[in-house]
Amino acid sequence: MTTQHERELTSGVKIPLVGFGTFLIPDDETGTATENALAAGYRHIDTAELYANERGVGEGLRRGLHQAGIERGDVFITTKLWPQAQGRDKTGAETLRSLDESLNRLGVDQVDLYLIHATFGREQRLEQWAALAEAYRSGKARAIGVSNFNASHIDELIETGLPVPHANQIELHPWSQKPELVAYLKQKGIVPIAYSSLAPLSTWRTASGHINGKTRHMRVEGEQADSPFKKLAEDYGVSEAQFLLGWGVQNGYPVLPKSTKPDRIRQNLDIFSFRIDDADMEYIRSLDRGTGLAWGEIDPITHG
Ligand SMILES: NC(=O)c1ccc[n+]([C@@H]2O[C@H](COP(=O)([O-])OP(=O)(O)OC[C@H]3O[C@@H](n4cnc5c(N)ncnc54)[C@H](OP(=O)(O)O)[C@@H]3O)[C@@H](O)[C@H]2O)c1
Repeated sequence: MTTQHERELTSGVKIPLVGFGTFLIPDDETGTATENALAAGYRHIDTAELYANERGVGEGLRRGLHQAGIERGDVFITTKLWPQAQGRDKTGAETLRSLDESLNRLGVDQVDLYLIHATFGREQRLEQWAALAEAYRSGKARAIGVSNFNASHIDELIETGLPVPHANQIELHPWSQKPELVAYLKQKGIVPIAYSSLAPLSTWRTASGHINGKTRHMRVEGEQADSPFKKLAEDYGVSEAQFLLGWGVQNGYPVLPKSTKPDRIRQNLDIFSFRIDDADMEYIRSLDRGTGLAWGEIDPITHG
C-alpha cells in the first residue's frame, strides 16, 4: 500500500497516509504492537516522548524490519517533543537534547518527522521551533512540524522568519472538523495529520483509565443520536472504523489508528477500497460539533 497511498510534505519527504498510533500502549507492549503493525503492512509509526514508549517502538521496529525484510528507510517515524520539563518550558538546548534522547530510545539516527507536541509559553515556543529548524538542517529530522497549534500560533513562527512547519498534527474526525484551521493549513502548504480519527466509535478508549469526563459526555450524545457512521459504513460495506479512517484519507489527511488487537490493526490499514460519495461527504460536514475530545477538558488548540 505504501507507494500509492502517501502524501508529499513541502520538505519533499513522503508520508504514508496510514500510520500506526501508539498513545496509551505501555512500553513493554509497544514492541509487539509495532512488530504486528509492520507485519500487517504499516510503514508509518507515530510515537512521542510523552507516551513513554519510544524504546518499545525501537524494539518493534528492529524486529519488524528483520521479519518483513525491509530497511529503516522504508518506515516513516514520527516522534514529538514534550515542551515542558520540571514544570517549565524547555529551552532550545533542552529541545535538541530531548531529540537526541528520543533518537537514542528509538535506536535510529534520524526521525522522519519531529513535532512540538503542544503549545505552552510563547517565548519558549519560538525558541523550541528554532531548535527544530536546527534539527532539520542537521538531518536529525527529515521534516519538522507542530501539533495542536492554531493559525495564530503558526503565524507567530512564520512572522519571526523561522521556517513554515511541514505538518500540524491535530484532532480531526467528523465530530471535530476544524474547517477554518484546515483551510489555513492548506493555504500555507502545511499537511494536517489527523489523530483520534476513531473518537466517534463506541469502542474508542474503553479500557480502564483511558477515558475522561468529556469523552464520556460526548459518547452519550453519540449513542443517543444512534451513530450515523454505523449506517453509512453498512452502505459502503466496511466497518465503522474503516469508514471513519476512509473519511480522513479522502480529505487528504494522514491518519494514525491505534490498536493492540492484530485483527483491528489489519482492518485499519484496509481503507482504500471504497470512496465516500459527494452527498455523504456533504452530510458528514453537517455533523461537526466543533470541539475535540481527545484531551479531555483541555482544548489544546486554544491552550497556551
Ligand atoms: N498529537 C496529539 O496530541 C495526539 C493526541 C491523541 C492521539 N495522537 C496520536 O494519534 C493516534 C490515534 O489516536 P487515539 O489513540 O486517540 O485513538 P484512535 O486511533 O482514534 O482510536 C483508538 C481506540 O479505538 C479502538 N479501535 C481501534 N481500531 C478499532 C477498530 N477497528 N474497531 C473498533 N475499535 C477500534 C482502540 O481499542 P483497542 O486498542 O482495544 O483496539 C482504541 O480504544 C495515537 O495513538 C497517537 O499516536 C496524538
